[in-house]
Amino acid sequence: MARYDRIGQVYAQHRRPDSRWRDQIHAALGGADRIVNVGAGTGNYEPTDRYVLGVEPSAVMIAQRAPGPVVKGVAEALPLAEQSFDIAMGLLTAHHWSDVTAGLNEMARVAPRQVLMVFEPEISHRFWLLDYFPSGRKSRTEIQGPTEASLRQHFNVTDVQVMEVPANCTDGVAAAHWNRPERYLDEGVQASISSLAMLPEDIRAAGTERLRADIESGVWDDKYGHLRASEAEDFGYRLVTCEGLRPS
Ligand SMILES: C[S@@+](CC[C@H](N)C(=O)[O-])C[C@H]1O[C@@H](n2cnc3c(N)ncnc32)[C@H](O)[C@@H]1O
Repeated sequence: MARYDRIGQVYAQHRRPDSRWRDQIHAALGGADRIVNVGAGTGNYEPTDRYVLGVEPSAVMIAQRAPGPVVKGVAEALPLAEQSFDIAMGLLTAHHWSDVTAGLNEMARVAPRQVLMVFEPEISHRFWLLDYFPSGRKSRTEIQGPTEASLRQHFNVTDVQVMEVPANCTDGVAAAHWNRPERYLDEGVQASISSLAMLPEDIRAAGTERLRADIESGVWDDKYGHLRASEAEDFGYRLVTCEGLRPS
């Protein structure tokens, strides 16, 4: 069973594309006519004014997509001809792949340009939420994907954008609610964050109760309340544009 057949049931409700991230991603896609979205999930950030093919292993995720071209498949073996697309895009997916190197090589095989949204664990692991779910730090390490540095070793990287998380981010990624701790008490919000969804139930419940208590007692605000006034913060998300493999 694909991982997201288990943890992706309510993804589309909580992971709604954020308009500021959409602008950044579409700028990176430029005028490309044919885009393959690897690990496409529910179709977030896919342009609607040109040909986009989704490649996605989870039937549960595919069922939440708008009608349009999609094939069931994995990054490690894309069911596509060589150089048949202008851009291969992969957003917050590569940390789930069983073989990251194979998936990146496949993205270079099917398109001359690659656009990946990744996260930098050194920054994202400092996020306050993981004080309450410390084993989430461990599961994030276990499912660690490429970073800007590792992509630079693999590809010709031509651009790197910091994707700050805006204060009212609509895409419920792990750090989306950094200034709204109450949101993390919601079961659906937790279910849409893979590093929380994959925790054993008792550990997740205990962390949730610790967070609830700190919000109610004011401890969270004493430590982190200054964040409530901030407009955007860097939690390690990066948009990396590449032009094929680096010569070995
Ligand atoms: C966090 S979701 C991101 C979905 C979408 N790209 C987005 O930005 O909303 C991760 C996606 O990667 C997919 N995935 C997991 N393993 C994969 C693999 N080996 N190849 C391609 N996609 C994979 C999951 O099924 C899931 O849809």
